[in-house]
Amino acid sequence: MIRPVLKYGAPELEATSRPITQCDDEMKALVQDMLETMYAAPGIGLAAPQVGVNLRLIVLDISGGEEQGHQMVLMNPEIMEQEGSQEGEEGCLSIPGFTGVVERPARIVVTSQDLGGNPREMEADGLLARVVCHEVDHLEGILYLDHLSALKRDLIKRKIKKLIRAGDW
Ligand code: NI
Repeated sequence: MIRPVLKYGAPELEATSRPITQCDDEMKALVQDMLETMYAAPGIGLAAPQVGVNLRLIVLDISGGEEQGHQMVLMNPEIMEQEGSQEGEEGCLSIPGFTGVVERPARIVVTSQDLGGNPREMEADGLLARVVCHEVDHLEGILYLDHLSALKRDLIKRKIKKLIRAGDW
């Protein structure tokens, strides 16, 4: 089931999410819904707070569903190591219509659990590292806007406020 994606301004997007302690049927349904919602958007990553659930869960697929083998579901992801830096343009399904250039680590090591609760560790670089960092940020209530210069961030926020006032957000 495709769930509505919350937009900038929703309090869930600015909250810190809770760790997942149990992977029950409800959690599995949430994962399926998040994957469906991400592909339908279309997007390459989605965090649970974006569908109004403040739990530490992210899904991603840097191929956008175009290629097999890129789909990932990470429960309780944690970035354990990071090195280097890369700059690239980011958008967010919760901030439609805007993008910004964000600096991220070039390479990360991320631990997480799979749906069976088994621990996993993965190394990522390039776009994958960027997407994981962006989605893990969501679990802390951080948006990519927070990484932009104050000037650029305020510009986007002003435009969003205008859209909200016009009823177009
Ligand atoms: Ni996002």
